[in-house]
Amino acid sequence: MRYLTFALTKGRLAGKTMKMLESLGITCEEMKEKDSRKLIFTNEELKLKFFLAKGPDVPTYVEYGAADIGVVGRDTIIEEGRKVHEVLDLGFGKCKMCVCGRQETKELLNRHELIRVATKYPKIAKDYFYNKKHQTVELIKMNGSIELAPIVGLSEVIVDIVETGTTLNENGLVVLEEVCPLSARMIVNPVSMRMENDRIKKIVTDLRELLREEQCGHAN
Ligand code: PRP
Repeated sequence: MRYLTFALTKGRLAGKTMKMLESLGITCEEMKEKDSRKLIFTNEELKLKFFLAKGPDVPTYVEYGAADIGVVGRDTIIEEGRKVHEVLDLGFGKCKMCVCGRQETKELLNRHELIRVATKYPKIAKDYFYNKKHQTVELIKMNGSIELAPIVGLSEVIVDIVETGTTLNENGLVVLEEVCPLSARMIVNPVSMRMENDRIKKIVTDLRELLREEQCGHAN
């Protein structure tokens, strides 16, 4: 049997993914070792490999088949536009892509003025303003701490992820418009999907069942 390889997004998403997989009996003890500099972890018994990568690299590994399965935020899947199959909404990592800025900026948005938009997600921002709102804007690609941009006067608004709203709140910014809902998704390489259909289908089906049970638990 060949190894089935998972590419997980470093950080909270990877932690939550492993917890979910553990409920299905898919574990990786090697991964739990603290302070290890190892990059790839194996479960010999189940013939599985796991590695951690930066979010935007996860769809790349999956498109090229270096990983069969990936777990990554929907924001990254849309932004990267890789040829992968999205097979499951994992239900965690829920947040929203939003247009944010100072409350006063709402007027500029409403009047369709030529505003500057700072974002880590130029493709999502462009699609939203040009195709959905039919509004011309100046896009400025940034790499993090996007909330700084309107504070220091780099841009009028930002397009960024809002989870709890704390970062906005603490910096005097508000959500002006909602672009789309986001959450962690499972993606699969199209060739792996065919070649390893049984194994992948079993994981997806079991996860779906687990999610359904969790949902029922919450409802009761
Ligand atoms: C994300 C996002 C916001 C923040 C939102 O940043 O870009 O800054 O989290 O979360 P909140 O609504 O709960 O405050 P992240 O911490 O991933 O780092 P980044 O600024 O480097 O993108």
